[in-house]
Amino acid sequence: MKIPHEWHRSLFRNSFYNPASPAAVAKAPAEAAFVLKQLKLKKGSALLDLCCGPGRHAVEFAKKGLAVTGYDFSGEYLAEAAARAKKKKVSLRLVRGDMRRLKFRGEFDAAVNLFTSFGYFQKFSDDIKTLKGAARSLKPGGLFLIDVVNGGFVRKNFRPRDWVELEDYYHLEEAKAGPDGVYNAWTRIPKNGGKILTRRFFSRLYDKERLGAALRKAGLSPLKYWGGFSGRPLTDKTNRLIILARKN
Ligand SMILES: C[S@@+](CC[C@H](N)C(=O)[O-])C[C@H]1O[C@@H](n2cnc3c(N)ncnc32)[C@H](O)[C@@H]1O
Repeated sequence: MKIPHEWHRSLFRNSFYNPASPAAVAKAPAEAAFVLKQLKLKKGSALLDLCCGPGRHAVEFAKKGLAVTGYDFSGEYLAEAAARAKKKKVSLRLVRGDMRRLKFRGEFDAAVNLFTSFGYFQKFSDDIKTLKGAARSLKPGGLFLIDVVNGGFVRKNFRPRDWVELEDYYHLEEAKAGPDGVYNAWTRIPKNGGKILTRRFFSRLYDKERLGAALRKAGLSPLKYWGGFSGRPLTDKTNRLIILARKN
């Protein structure tokens, strides 16, 4: 399956996909509460939400008194994050940019990367660039919490074809497993007879060992692992892989 170069530019658009579905927005307060419980930050601490998207977690962090910077490539999602912050009467600093080119230096007490917003690049070195940038953004001893799909679970429960009915459209997924990750084709079929759109993308699969090694390579030492936002232990039966790491 041929994956377009820089595919994220066309997939993360409202015309195709938005991660802040009503179900995902409803889960955000509990997910944010779990994250904050692990980070143990004081009020006013600086938190980077790396790949914040439409800001569903960022606003929850801001509601708890943190100074939140949301960073994302998608201008459309950042505009939605700004609107969400206004509605919730919180303030967010929103910065548009590519996760491989973070320019922050030692300014955050903690950083998070949530809902598999990582592993998008066919060059592994780009994933490492992202993690190194996150590490550089942190103060010494700063914490980094990352939440991705559990690669071992995906391989064991691999579904080459899947579909789901959403409010306005049918969402179809095709997937091919490769040695490093999954090659995906998502198709959106609007119920109102609108244009059918397909987007192809790559997602690198990480298990505990592989993500742990990547974090260490970037100067981040893994401290704790979980298999979900409920705090359940990580096993090959949990579909999430959450790691808390500390900057060396
Ligand atoms: C699956 S969404 C998750 C968004 C958000 N964390 C959430 O939980 O709702 C992945 C996010 O990564 C962003 N993204 C994708 N590629 C990016 C890149 N190269 N640099 C910065 N952000 C990127 C997308 O715009 C999107 O907002």
